[in-house]
Amino acid sequence: MKLPQSVAETAALLAEGGYVADHALATTVFLALSMQRPLFLEGEPGTGKTEIAKVLAEGLGRRLVRLQCYDGLDLAAAAYEWDHARQLMAIRLAEASGEAGVIDIYARQFLQSRPLLSAIDPDQPPAVLLIDELDRADEPFEAFLLEVLADFQLTIPEYGTVRAATPPVVILTSNRTREVHDAIRRRCLYQWVDYPTATREREILARKAPGIAEKLSAEIVAFVQKLRGEDLFKLPGVAETIDWAGALKHLDQNELAPGAVDETLGVLLKYQDDIAKIKGAEAARLVSEAKSIATPPPPV
Ligand SMILES: Nc1ncnc2c1ncn2[C@@H]1O[C@H](COP(=O)(O)OP(=O)(O)OP(=O)(O)O)[C@@H](O)[C@H]1O
Ligand SMILES: [Mg+2]
Repeated sequence: MKLPQSVAETAALLAEGGYVADHALATTVFLALSMQRPLFLEGEPGTGKTEIAKVLAEGLGRRLVRLQCYDGLDLAAAAYEWDHARQLMAIRLAEASGEAGVIDIYARQFLQSRPLLSAIDPDQPPAVLLIDELDRADEPFEAFLLEVLADFQLTIPEYGTVRAATPPVVILTSNRTREVHDAIRRRCLYQWVDYPTATREREILARKAPGIAEKLSAEIVAFVQKLRGEDLFKLPGVAETIDWAGALKHLDQNELAPGAVDETLGVLLKYQDDIAKIKGAEAARLVSEAKSIATPPPPV
């Protein structure tokens, strides 16, 4: 499918996939697509970084190739691996038929693609490559990525250089548990993905948790936005807001009530210390504040 030709078209493409982007994010995504540059998204957990890659793949009609990073990730798991068993079998077969001298054990058929190679494989349809949570991989791994990010190609010493026929759309994400190296940043366009404004979070809820009463949705968003101002170990992301709306719906709630909030805090907060801090009086205070924001007094 054709790449979007403007920021508005990019925003529309994201919206079609249920993604609510602000103007800054839609602009950076548009630029990354049109300049064929990788997009590096950093931000708090649960703010929609990974989702962008999924929505772009869907909207552009491309396959999503996902590389989930973790401590100890190496070239064999990320890019390619020679299939030693098949190489050995081929050698044995060749020996048995007296042709051991002519077999090329570094032919393409013995090369197993992992996400990086798969994303730039010219024999496969164009891809969106998601390199997710890069901060979880150890630093030396980042060096492997440079060639792919800069030139959409991968040099395999025994084989040669594999170059993408159509450059993949590349999205990298990080939760900033450590700083990603400058060499990676330089090759990418960068965007910080922040918690959404209340208006945008309401829009996200309308798309991701449909069927929630207007009043409840406004109160949920006001409460969560207030909660993000508290001194907590781990603040709730958009994912938690969506989950919480679902939980309150299951409990047949039409508006926020301190009792139901206390009982469902575990959907929003994932650490006991945070829950202990909010449960009870603080939750009740936040509920009443959320209600006054969600239904402002009529003008006099
Ligand atoms: N702007 C948005 N529009 C629509 N849905 C959103 C948006 N932001 C977040 N979401 C929803 O929130 C959930 C979490 O998003 P996602 O997994 O992309 O977060 P993340 O930033 O990758 O988090 P983490 O850093 O924990 O991996 C998804 O279900 C996604 O649909
Ligand atoms: Mg993610």
